[in-house]
Amino acid sequence: VESVIVAIDGPSGTGKSSTSKAVAAKLGLSYLDTGAQYRAITWWMIDNGVDVGDPAAVADAAGKPVIVSGTDPSHPTITVDGVDVSGPIRTQEVTSKVSAVSAVPEIRARITDLQRSIAATAPHGIVVEGRDIGTTVLPDADLKIFLTASPEARAARRAGEIKGADVAATREALVRRDAADSSRKTSPLAKADDAVEVDTTDLTLQQVIECVVTFVEEKR
Ligand code: C5P
Repeated sequence: VESVIVAIDGPSGTGKSSTSKAVAAKLGLSYLDTGAQYRAITWWMIDNGVDVGDPAAVADAAGKPVIVSGTDPSHPTITVDGVDVSGPIRTQEVTSKVSAVSAVPEIRARITDLQRSIAATAPHGIVVEGRDIGTTVLPDADLKIFLTASPEARAARRAGEIKGADVAATREALVRRDAADSSRKTSPLAKADDAVEVDTTDLTLQQVIECVVTFVEEKR
């Protein structure tokens, strides 16, 4: 079986993570959640008292933490300086601050290097999910997918994952984060020209997975 590199981008709540993990597991590929890496570095900044609202302070601290991503799709852990932060990176606080941290060019340069080396050493190929994978991190990926869905569908999915979450507030936070991610100068959230766009609004997760698996198989 030939090695294959798959880039899956799109805004939050489109099913990127669930789809990417399932496709990787199904096809025996490694898996990388690049959002988790940006969340991990954001978690470290907060934990170490770095003012995340100050791009110069964030840039200064960019090289300090050692972030290690597990690439097994069934156990995608992430550690910072040896501490497993897979849980802590999902808090509201990290979620609300990650866009500011990930907009800093020094942070992106550092994380992008890490992502490229992980992709280059994946034994059977890899599914990499994020915002700028097809455009910037892996422009030569064998397959690029761009997932979309209506803001209502995305908010409903996200709110469904969090106990007691309010759909309207979730939708507002999500739209705000997308706007920040899409408008930053360095490698914003964008669809690559050669990416296949899949609108998941009216599809089940199973249908999206099957759709992507079919695309990958056509490339192998
Ligand atoms: O995918 P997830 O919602 O966990 O991503 C968290 C944040 O990390 C995004 O809102 C974005 O600010 C940043 N990110 C990024 N580039 C990527 C992946 C995520 O800037 N490739």
